[in-house]
Amino acid sequence: MDTLQYVKWLRGSSPYINAHRDRTFVLMLGGEAIADPNFENIIHDIGLLASLDVRLVVVFGARPQIDAAYAAAGIEPSYQNQGRHLLRITDDDGIRLVRQVVGDLRIQIEALLSTGLAGSPMHASRITAASGNWVTAKPLGVIDGVDFCHTGEVRRVDAIALRRQLDVGVIPVLGPIGYSPSGEVFNLAYEEVAAAVAGALRADKLIALDEEPGVLDERGDRISELSPRELETMIDRRRQAAVGSDELLRQLTALHDASRAGVRRCHLVSHTVDGALLQELFTREGSGTQISEHSYEQIRPAHRDDVAGIVELTRPLAEAGVLVERSRELIEREIERFTVIELDGLVIGCAALYPYPEEQAAEIACVVTHPEYQGADRAEKLVRHLEHQARREGFAHTFVLTTRTSHWFAEQGYAATEVESLPAARRSLWSPMRNSKVLSKTLK
Ligand SMILES: CC(C)(COP(=O)(O)OP(=O)(O)OC[C@H]1O[C@@H](n2cnc3c(N)ncnc32)[C@H](O)[C@@H]1OP(=O)(O)O)[C@@H](O)C(=O)NCCC(=O)NCCS
Repeated sequence: MDTLQYVKWLRGSSPYINAHRDRTFVLMLGGEAIADPNFENIIHDIGLLASLDVRLVVVFGARPQIDAAYAAAGIEPSYQNQGRHLLRITDDDGIRLVRQVVGDLRIQIEALLSTGLAGSPMHASRITAASGNWVTAKPLGVIDGVDFCHTGEVRRVDAIALRRQLDVGVIPVLGPIGYSPSGEVFNLAYEEVAAAVAGALRADKLIALDEEPGVLDERGDRISELSPRELETMIDRRRQAAVGSDELLRQLTALHDASRAGVRRCHLVSHTVDGALLQELFTREGSGTQISEHSYEQIRPAHRDDVAGIVELTRPLAEAGVLVERSRELIEREIERFTVIELDGLVIGCAALYPYPEEQAAEIACVVTHPEYQGADRAEKLVRHLEHQARREGFAHTFVLTTRTSHWFAEQGYAATEVESLPAARRSLWSPMRNSKVLSKTLK
């Protein structure tokens, strides 16, 4: 990548950086991901996300490592189909191995998160990871005469305690383990832990890392977006065809459970491809599959979280002289005047309404649609929305000042008028240097 390409790429990713800041993402990693040669890169990317103020929780699994420990100890594992999946029956010897393996993997992950050598991508990242007793478990018990022993299920997640960790920038690292109030240790499915944690935290995203690059269609092509309903159909089909343990099915089920529990976006991303996680989070095309209700786009009043998005959207236009310069502080102060269009957590359109009650007039300003989303009537909708608001607030007309967009406003029913017709307070701000045209519209 040459320097210019690099700069363009970095600029292109900045709306996503703003959109992800202070959001909570739960990452679910199978034992296969930890064993993959790409795992170190995944850790670097986790470090990068943490540096960008993403609130991260890591939930890991250990199935292949536990299988290997069973084999090394000469113990034959036994499984039983229960509910939706094939589950390990964890007897006394088994839980001893599970505790060792999970403890070992947790230490391995914490050690990797601690690397910070000069020259490494983690240099100076200073990540704090923590583990804890945030998941309360209960035994599966005896089902159809089969005693699952120390295999359990999630009973509750202590979201308050987890949030406390996230608030101080700590990455909680959870394994496939839970504790009962009687002090026993239970072996859990990490997918269940991840979905329960994401649901309890009301996380913004649950991201599963899998061998597959995402969900594939019959032709083997990646499906970049699925609704929870489509995912459900896919899971049903896969479950009917499944023989034995199906890791992807477990992950998809967890993503589905989490999306039903209110996690707005769930993702399936490759753990074998270097950078797949970043590509999914910071590019429009993504790299895996996102599960969300389609085209979640809404016009709504702006709030403080939108300031960065509005700055991002308007800055290039202000620099080009198309819009009047507005500092971040000014936008922050005037945020309640703004209306935004949000798509997938990104601000892709904005406009502001400034009232002049004495003259019963309101100015519509700063109408912007993100260049990639223009030409689909979004600006028209924004202007209609603000006109409606102005009418509701009792204003008789709206007006605009523009240097380059007078024809567009004319198409929205605005007619050219004199600078003198502006409200007195606004007239005094009109700049002969800028020489904006004034257009107005009577609200009916
Ligand atoms: C003007 C702007 C807000 C339109 O956004 P949009 O969401 O694409 O708007 P719409 O889809 O409702 O309208 C698109 C139509 O307006 C036309 N249009 C866009 N800019 C125009 C301009 N400056 N003058 C005349 N027509 C223009 C488009 O060509 C398109 O016409 P078509 O449908 O015949 O192809 C957008 O181009 C933008 O952000 N511009 C920079 C900021 C700006 O100038 N804002 C206004 C000053 S406050």
